[in-house]
Amino acid sequence: MKPLNIGVIGYGFMGRAHSNAFRKVGNFFPLDRKLVLKAACGRDAAKTKAFADTWGYESTTSDWKELIARDDIDLIDIAAPNNVHAEIAIAAAKGGKMILCEKPLAMNPAEAVKMVAAVEKAKVANMVWYNYRRIPAVTLAKELIDAGRLGKIFHYRAKFLQDWTINADVPQGGAGTWRLDASVAGSGVTGDLLAHCIDTALWLNGGIDSVTAMTETFVKERKHALSGKKQKVLIDDASAFLARFSNGSLATFEATRYARGHKALYTFEINGEHGSLCWDLHDLHRLQFFDHRDAGNVRGWRSIHVSDGDQPYMKHWWVPGLQIGYEHSFVHQVADFVAGLSNGQPAAPTFRDGLATDYVTDAVLKSAKSRRWQNVKSARSK
Ligand SMILES: NC(=O)c1ccc[n+]([C@@H]2O[C@H](COP(=O)([O-])OP(=O)(O)OC[C@H]3O[C@@H](n4cnc5c(N)ncnc54)[C@H](O)[C@@H]3O)[C@@H](O)[C@H]2O)c1
Repeated sequence: MKPLNIGVIGYGFMGRAHSNAFRKVGNFFPLDRKLVLKAACGRDAAKTKAFADTWGYESTTSDWKELIARDDIDLIDIAAPNNVHAEIAIAAAKGGKMILCEKPLAMNPAEAVKMVAAVEKAKVANMVWYNYRRIPAVTLAKELIDAGRLGKIFHYRAKFLQDWTINADVPQGGAGTWRLDASVAGSGVTGDLLAHCIDTALWLNGGIDSVTAMTETFVKERKHALSGKKQKVLIDDASAFLARFSNGSLATFEATRYARGHKALYTFEINGEHGSLCWDLHDLHRLQFFDHRDAGNVRGWRSIHVSDGDQPYMKHWWVPGLQIGYEHSFVHQVADFVAGLSNGQPAAPTFRDGLATDYVTDAVLKSAKSRRWQNVKSARSK
């Protein structure tokens, strides 16, 4: 089998999630490429070495440009914070590398547009790690919608709730808390959490035309972990918006890091003419489905335990009745990406799909400032 040599940048949360997927995928999915963990890159040499030893990377570097210059690396995997996505991806595209990039694609649409142009000009395979699409219950939701089981869709409702920044002593910036530093994260929960909800929504329910939003920064100043100085907080702590989809449906989206008791509660509900769907990250292997066309005497919400071989991705895992979890969504994403290299159908979301989400988050942030409805740009028009 032809090798697919991978260089990963970042050894944190996502560096681990991706490495786990690269290692596992070939054991469960029939691939026509052999994934090789060629090199790991991170800023701290000792931590990068420890990471490489744990996951089996052949070599390490603290300079990502070295990875791109290497002839024996085919694919650059960007698992570093948002402020470095554009520079690395554009250089990697110029170097002719395939690219997997973490979400959000970029700090803002201007950067994202350049990234899309770079990968499309270089004709290199590219994908954004919006992994929730490939949780089998979410993929099943897509199949049911595409098969017309909901009919015309009226409502889309999504939430992503956390509670880890309520304490005003949590710093901004630095390892672990870069998400609170706007110069590294770009935005707060809008780009971090709502971006996931938006990507899923665009995939399930089509384009969003316009939004009206509100955001809040509850803790106005925080110490910076690197400088030790108190600085104004420039990210949004909470963000909520109304949206109008191109198909005529109405939506509400909400994300916050101030919902006490919630660690990572991503939920969505979709209501259509014939039925409704509900999904909840805390019960990720289940899809709730209501079909109004069922016979009246048995009509009601079904809780579908997504574990059967007939259901998305599940035939590759255990036996019916045994469920899988969060990490497997990354395995599925790699499996689809590798399949797309040879079957002529590049796996989504591509960078252009990532740009579509960035256009929505940008419109949300603009609307929150202007307090007016904001039209969302189309990522499809070149
Ligand atoms: N798909 C998802 O569900 C999901 C979940 C979490 C994070 N993310 C995204 O993944 C990315 C990384 O987040 P994380 O939670 O893994 O962060 P993290 O803080 O756990 O790890 C970040 C890593 O990037 C490295 N890094 C930072 N700047 C670098 C540079 N210039 N060169 C080389 N390495 C550098 C750090 O050393 C660290 O290893 C972000 O874009 C984030 O939004 C996505």
